[in-house]
Amino acid sequence: MASDTPPTAQAYGAQERAAIYRAIDERRDMRHFAGGSVAPEVLTRLLTAAHHAPSVGFMQPWRFIRVRSRALREQLHACVEVERQRTADALGERRDGFLQLKVEGLLDAAEVFAVALADGREAHVFGRRTLPEMDLASVACAIQNLWLAARAEGLGMGWVSFFDPADVARLLQLPPGARAVALLCLGPVHGFYEEPMLARERWARRAPLASVVFDDGWRRQADWLDRA
Ligand SMILES: Cc1cc2nc3c(=O)[nH]c(=O)nc-3n(C[C@H](O)[C@H](O)[C@H](O)COP(=O)(O)O)c2cc1C
Repeated sequence: MASDTPPTAQAYGAQERAAIYRAIDERRDMRHFAGGSVAPEVLTRLLTAAHHAPSVGFMQPWRFIRVRSRALREQLHACVEVERQRTADALGERRDGFLQLKVEGLLDAAEVFAVALADGREAHVFGRRTLPEMDLASVACAIQNLWLAARAEGLGMGWVSFFDPADVARLLQLPPGARAVALLCLGPVHGFYEEPMLARERWARRAPLASVVFDDGWRRQADWLDRA
């Protein structure tokens, strides 16, 4: 959490810093939505936040498609349902536990956006020659911006990745080379989960910070970490 002492002269004030950490802490992947609507000016703010994300070589590879047609939304939902069942079949002994989890709110959210990687990405070599997946990393940064801004606006968002990209490409008429990477459910919620739903449902737990931060090499414990 933000301390009262700014670390540098460029730091935000204590309240502003606390607000940033609060949004990070309270952002949740939401699957339960309260219907309603999101005003166009709020959508514009959120998409502007997404569009101001960092991107490799400043390539801005993200494309956002607002799903306005109910029929299209239902077709996308059907794709997700097919993949949810296939995932369950691939999970072996965790199948039944998985099927009890809610993994999307596509039919209930006020808004659905599909997010795709743009076509023509092969022209962008800067920062991607050895790591071509940095385009996807850039899109993830944009989605995270949107997610945090949505939390600050009091709106829930859920990232749905249960789909075959070829099916979504066909439904959204993506050009060759473009690739769908997310269906975002966005809108008012009755409340935010206090912890990740997958933790609440005992599917997974947050790993201790010390288990993911190392010094000088793999698995060398960072003994300077504040463990409080
Ligand atoms: C790339 C990505 C894809 C995800 N896809 C799904 C999904 O298809 N369905 C779902 O319920 N949650 C999905 N999630 C949400 C994660 O389950 C969630 O972030 C994680 O459980 C931690 O919870 P939190 O986001 O509330 O902190 C996805 C998250 C990310 C970053």
